[in-house]
Amino acid sequence: MGEICGPISCGRLSHNPYHWQCMDTTELRKALEGGRTGTDWTESVARFFAAGDLTYGHGTDNPRDEAYWLVRARQGWSEQAWAAPPDGGLIEGTVELARCRVVQRKPLAYLLGEAWFAGLRFRIDERVLIPRSPLAELIENRFVPWCRIQPGDRVLDVGTGSGCLAIAAAHYCAGASVDATDISEDALTVARRNVCEHGMEDRVGLIRTDLFAGLTGPYRIILANSPYVPSERLEELPAEYRHEPETALDGGRSGLDVVERLLEGALSRLAPDGLLVVEVGEAEQPFRSRHPRLPATWLEFEHGGEGVFVLTHGELAGYLHA
Ligand SMILES: C[S@@+](CC[C@H](N)C(=O)[O-])C[C@H]1O[C@@H](n2cnc3c(N)ncnc32)[C@H](O)[C@@H]1O
Repeated sequence: MGEICGPISCGRLSHNPYHWQCMDTTELRKALEGGRTGTDWTESVARFFAAGDLTYGHGTDNPRDEAYWLVRARQGWSEQAWAAPPDGGLIEGTVELARCRVVQRKPLAYLLGEAWFAGLRFRIDERVLIPRSPLAELIENRFVPWCRIQPGDRVLDVGTGSGCLAIAAAHYCAGASVDATDISEDALTVARRNVCEHGMEDRVGLIRTDLFAGLTGPYRIILANSPYVPSERLEELPAEYRHEPETALDGGRSGLDVVERLLEGALSRLAPDGLLVVEVGEAEQPFRSRHPRLPATWLEFEHGGEGVFVLTHGELAGYLHA
């Protein structure tokens, strides 16, 4: 599930304690009224967020980037609007969104209905996990050096949620065709909208199924960002995460129930020169303990994130048939 800022990053707030003083909506409104630039607005909203004791990790990892996202989204991501003095007509809506973010602890992506992933914008609501996987970096690099996708290659995204991995894979890998599955019809409804908005109807097929059921392959790449939170830990997650669908997070008793099934089912659908790419995030250590002999390569990411491994067809076959 990871954490990635994508384009929504504009540097850190200074750690001057002044920034972390309490701020209510009246003060926020006043600060916005006095703001002369988009940056002033960003600083004011950031102070409001910082005072709100929020948990980040749904597209940003600090109050300032979160505030920047809110301000830019309110301006419709217009460069002209950002460069000009802020429009006073946006103040009330901005205050209300900031208030909801703090009071409801609802991730900003749900409040705005958008998230950024691999440089692309996706429509998001509470039927899907908010895109944040470090797999974005791998996809933007077209899977090189692990795999060199050729025109006509097939890619499978298991548990597609919003469709972000599948659509990004189609966007960056010219000529590849992508299948994307999910067990949740609700998630597929959101994914369908994103497929249409990105004009990917001919490149990305959406299939409702349990993991790989009914799929034959062969796929050159199988991607999966599966649920990996142990069921009993779901209630301990920060409030922001509890707005996300349980099906997207709940990895069963061990946290790795879905991932285990994925390992078993992938082999018969993977091409002989194919690659399995799986994100297990914070479950990396438990997963490694369960599979000490699995010849997985754990990836390092320039832009942050962890818990992703790759396995070739040969490595997976060797392991499962040993
Ligand atoms: C962690 S979310 C990942 C969503 C998306 N791929 C992303 O990276 O943002 C896991 C997704 O897997 C789906 N899922 C859970 N169990 C599944 C299963 N047995 N078969 C297919 N999809 C499943 C969930 O509905 C959810 O959309």
